[in-house]
Order: sequence, then C-alpha cells, then structure tokens
Amino acid sequence: MSIGRSVTRFRFALMMVFGLLFSAGVYAQGAAGGIPTDEASISAGQALFSGNCASCHAVDKKVVGPALKNVYDRRDVAWLTKFIKHPQKVIDSGDEYAVALYDQFKPTIMPNQEVSDQEILQILAYVKHTTDNPPVVDETEVPGGGEGSNAQAAGVDSNLLLGIIAVLMVLLVVVLVVLIVLAQVLSKYLKQQQGLSEEDQEYVAQKFDLMAVLKSQAFVGFASFIFVVIVAKTVIDGLFAIGVQQGYAPDQPINFSHKLHAGYYEIDCKYCHTGVEKSKNANIPSANICMNCHNSIRTTSPEIQKIYKAIENNEPIQWVRIHNLPDLAYFNHSQHVKVGGIECETCHGDIKEMEIVQQHSILTMGWCIDCHRKTDVAAKGNAYYEKLVEIHESKTKAPMKVEDIGGLECAKCHY
Ligand code: HEC
Ligand code: HEC
Ligand code: HEC
Ligand code: HEC
Ligand code: HEC
Ligand code: HEC
Repeated sequence: MSIGRSVTRFRFALMMVFGLLFSAGVYAQGAAGGIPTDEASISAGQALFSGNCASCHAVDKKVVGPALKNVYDRRDVAWLTKFIKHPQKVIDSGDEYAVALYDQFKPTIMPNQEVSDQEILQILAYVKHTTDNPPVVDETEVPGGGEGSNAQAAGVDSNLLLGIIAVLMVLLVVVLVVLIVLAQVLSKYLKQQQGLSEEDQEYVAQKFDLMAVLKSQAFVGFASFIFVVIVAKTVIDGLFAIGVQQGYAPDQPINFSHKLHAGYYEIDCKYCHTGVEKSKNANIPSANICMNCHNSIRTTSPEIQKIYKAIENNEPIQWVRIHNLPDLAYFNHSQHVKVGGIECETCHGDIKEMEIVQQHSILTMGWCIDCHRKTDVAAKGNAYYEKLVEIHESKTKAPMKVEDIGGLECAKCHY
C-alpha cells in the first residue's frame, strides 16, 4: 500500500518538475514581443480562435470584423488584451484608434470576449503563426465554421424530456401487465401440480385482485392527494393571473435570450432598445439590428434562419408584448432613464439573467405613485431644475421628491 502511494507521489513530483521546466521554456520563448511561438500555444490558440472569434474574424481577410493579420504590430499586447475583453469600454474611453475602428465597422460591434490573458496570448500565437506561414490550411476560412456541431447541444428540449417520460410510463404499464399475466399462468400451472405442501397450496390459491387494490385505503388516499394538489395549483395560478400580469413570460417566436446577449456578451440595452433615452417607447429591435451580427454568427441555426425568413418576407418578427399599460396611462422611458437616471433593472428586474423576459413589477398605479413619493429628483447638474430646487429648499429641508415636481398629479399620467 504505502509503496504504491510513494510511487504515485514520486510520479506526481516528477510531473510537477517537468511542468515547471516546460512553462519556463515557453515563457522564455515568448518573452520576445510577449507572444509565444511554441506548438502547444499555437494549437491551443487555433482551437480558441475557431471557437470564439472565427464567426467574425479571419487572419488574412475581412469578415465581419477586421483581418487580424499583423494586428500585434498595429497595437501592443496590453492594448489588445484590454480591447478583446471589453471592446466597448476601450471605444467609450475615447481611444483614438479604437474609435476609428468602431466608425469603420459600425453598426456592427464586437461583444466582450470571455478569454483569459493567457488565452489571448495563445490566440495571438496562432494569428502570428498563420500570418508568418500563409500556406497553412486555415480551417477558419468558412465564416461560422464548425458551428453546427454544438448547435444542438445548447440544451435539452423540454418537449423531448416529456416525450421520454411518457414512453417510460407506457413501458412500465406494459411490463406490469405482462408480469400479472405471467403470475396468473404460473399459479394456474402450479395448482395442477401434485404434492405441494399445505402452505404452498394456500399461497398459490391467493388471487391477484385489481379491484381490491383500487379500493384499498392506501390507494384511495394517494389518488385524492394528487387530485387535491393539482386542483390547488390550478386555482392559485388562476388567482395570481387576475388583473395583474406580474411574472408574465410568454414564449417568443424566436428563442432570443437576454441572458446570452445582454448578460454573457454584455451587449448594451440601448444597442437594441434604441428609444430608451430619446422617446416614450423603448422600442423592440427590428430584424436588421439582429443582422448586424447574425449575417455571420450561427447562420445555420434554425432559430437564426427565422430572422432571415422575416427579412426575406419583409415582415416584422411577431414578438409577443410583455409589458403593457392600459391606454389611459402615460409612461415615458426617456423621462425615467435619461432625466431621472433610473436603471432598467429597478423596474424590469435582472434582465441580464433572464433566458425569457418576464414582467418583474406589478405596474399598477400604486406602484408608480409609491416610487414618486420615495424617490429624490436627480436635480444635480440639471439647469432645468435649479429654480425648482431653490424654491423647494426655501420651504423645507427635506430632499426634493418626484411628488414635489408634480409626480402625483392625475394629468401627468393620464391623458
Ligand atoms: C460578433 C463579431 C465578433 C467576434 C465574435 C469577435 N470580434 Fe473582434 N472585432 C469585431 C469587430 C466588428 C471589430 C471592429 C471594432 C468594432 O467595431 O468593435 C473587431 C475588432 C477586433 C480587434 C482589433 C483589430 C484591429 O484591426 O486593430 C481585435 C484584435 C479583435 N477584434 C480580436 C478578436 C478576438 C481575439 C476574438 C475572439 C476571442 C474576437 N475578436 C471576436 C467583431 C468580432
Ligand atoms: C441584442 C438585442 C437586445 C439587447 C442587447 C437587449 N434586448 Fe431587451 N429585447 C430584445 C428583443 C428582441 C425583445 C423582444 C423579445 C423578448 O421579449 O425576449 C426584448 C424584450 C425586452 C423587454 C420586454 C419587452 C416587452 O415586450 O414588454 C424588456 C423589458 C427588455 N427587453 C429589457 C432589456 C434590458 C433591460 C436590456 C439590457 C440589460 C436589454 N433588454 C437588452 C432585444 C434586446
Ligand atoms: C452584437 C452582436 C449580436 C446581435 C446584435 C444579436 N446577436 Fe444573437 N447572438 C450573438 C452571439 C455572439 C451569439 C452566440 C453565438 C454562439 O453561441 O456561437 C448569439 C446567439 C443567438 C441565438 C442562439 C442561436 C443558437 O442556435 O443557439 C439566437 C436565437 C439569437 N442570437 C437571436 C438574436 C436576435 C433575434 C437578435 C436581434 C434582436 C440578435 N440575436 C442580435 C450576437 C448578437
Ligand atoms: C421607471 C420604470 C422603468 C424603467 C427605469 C425602465 N422601464 Fe422599460 N418599461 C416600463 C413600463 C411601465 C413599461 C410599459 C410601458 C407601456 O406599456 O406603455 C415598459 C416597457 C418596456 C419595453 C417594452 C416596449 C415599450 O417600449 O413599451 C421595453 C423593451 C423596455 N421597457 C425596456 C427598458 C430598458 C432597456 C430600460 C433601461 C434602459 C427600461 N426599460 C427602463 C418601466 C420602466
Ligand atoms: C423607480 C421609481 C419610479 C417608478 C416605478 C415610476 N416612476 Fe415616474 N418618475 C420617477 C422619477 C425619478 C421621475 C422624475 C424624473 C425627472 O427628473 O423628471 C419620474 C417622473 C415621472 C413623470 C413626470 C412627472 C413630472 O412632473 O414631470 C411621469 C408622468 C411619470 N414619472 C409617470 C410614471 C408612471 C405612469 C409610472 C408607472 C407606470 C411611473 N412613473 C413609475 C420615478 C419612477
Ligand atoms: C404616477 C402616475 C399616475 C398618477 C399621478 C395617477 N395615476 Fe391613475 N393610473 C396610473 C396607471 C399606470 C394606471 C393603470 C394601472 C392600473 O390600472 O393600476 C392608472 C389607472 C387609473 C384608473 C383606472 C383604474 C382601473 O382599475 O382601470 C383611474 C380611474 C385612475 N388611474 C385615476 C387617477 C386619478 C383620479 C389620479 C389623480 C388623483 C391618478 N389616477 C393619478 C398612473 C397614475
């Protein structure tokens, strides 16, 4: 025992030593320009590149984004690392090069990439290797190459699961019937046998009585329990649905996920909901906005094909509306988002975590009023409010709330 363990430890120690030596070697090699040149890094980089970048980039030609050939000469590794992880941040910071790039490629944008510093070095290693050795067959030539392979793996369809359960149930019933029939045939056969002991004879004489089972207390109790649970759930669900639509999360015609787009890829809400800062309505994006990316990303996915079909037939995607105030009420996004400085999440919940959007707030008049009573007006630096604040402060020390600027007046919210 203990000898085996020592051998294992020894092997482990050896591996550690080799590992250290190996990475030290790689480091030494990479020190020139910071980009590694060893085989392992290049092939790791190739895999990372085709998995994350190939839908928009090729090394030697422009696809959705620029050709990445020589990119390490255009910018240094530190800049590239920052940009690849958070392109919009670099662009927003006013970096001249990034802004020029953005202008050249807009309206397409590069989403944040979830890659580590080391993975970025590996990707650059691959890009550099491919730049220096152009004859190498570039598997990433086909935009979106290899995407079909994991298109199906995205998640098990719940209908499929239900189907499997149904088939299993049917199988179980069939097995049960076969067993009962077998038992009856066997006991008939045994009854005709001679020389059974008294005990055995008594046992064989027992009959399987389905009616007795169905009438038994245990079965009746169990069945009524299930019945009561189902009825209770239906009634409770029904009560919650009356008038209030909170939690409403209809299935949409395309499996569009905010968790993926706004959460994982951190695409700005305003990129799609273009109205939030300018108008009353937030706007649902048209298919053209989707096409800024999906003319090259996941082109073969059946869900993406639905976008192409909508554009081909020149008709909008039939999104099901979730939030909907009655016509008598007036609500304005830009007033709350731009002027009031309120985050989307305050009213809509954590959209970045939602696969399917659901209505987070109750959207009753009480809800609007309650917030107007509690919330301070974001008056700082807003010339429009300076006079009002002055007047307000001459009367009271309490901060100026929305109700103080007319947020409880019927006519402000009702036409
Ligand atoms: C959805 C498409 C898309 C994906 C995916 C994407 N990019 Fe980009 N990339 C762009 C666009 C578009 C630009 C041009 C800048 C802009 O408009 O944001 C760009 C610019 C760049 C630049 C600057 C190029 C230059 O000429 O200076 C680098 C470097 C880069 N991307 C690397 C990557 C890497 C590495 C990956 C994968 C880990 C990746 N990108 C994934 C679209 C994409
Ligand atoms: C890539 C485009 C895109 C981005 C980015 C995006 N959305 Fe959406 N959003 C949509 C589409 C398409 C719909 C309609 C389909 C649906 O409800 O999922 C929608 C629906 C919604 C709805 C429900 C609208 C209704 O019918 O009442 C809300 C609320 C919403 N988005 C908020 C947000 C917020 C908040 C963010 C940022 C965190 C965000 N969205 C980012 C495309 C986007
Ligand atoms: C800024 C780029 C961008 C925009 C704009 C965009 N998407 Fe996406 N979308 C992506 C990326 C990146 C993926 C993930 C691709 C992957 O997993 O390989 C994706 C994935 C998807 C998927 C999943 C596809 C599948 O087969 O799993 C759907 C559906 C989708 N998007 C629909 C939309 C719709 C509808 C719109 C317009 C309202 C839209 N997208 C706008 C970048 C974008
Ligand atoms: C003060 C609360 C509040 C804030 C903050 C808010 N919304 Fe809304 N949003 C609403 C209400 C209320 C509705 C329903 C409007 C209606 O039916 O007229 C709505 C509806 C929507 C819709 C459906 C389409 C439309 O225009 O009616 C989208 C999309 C949406 N919001 C996105 C956003 C995004 C993105 C943000 C952040 C930039 C945001 N909202 C911030 C309260 C809010
Ligand atoms: C999360 C808090 C919040 C909620 C919820 C909210 N509001 Fe507001 N609302 C504000 C703030 C803050 C302002 C002040 C914006 C400004 O500085 O002009 C405001 C301003 C307004 C104004 C302009 C008032 C004026 O005197 O100029 C109207 C109209 C309004 N809201 C309607 C609504 C309606 C309708 C709802 C419900 C559907 C609602 N609001 C829900 C925070 C909220
Ligand atoms: C901050 C915005 C706001 C203010 C101020 C406001 N309301 Fe409302 N009101 C709403 C919204 C949103 C609805 C629709 C949601 C609902 O039915 O609860 C509504 C609904 C109503 C309804 C219809 C109720 C129903 O069940 O259909 C009446 C009546 C009404 N308001 C009267 C008033 C009167 C009177 C005042 C002034 C004292 C007033 N409201 C002030 C936002 C407001």
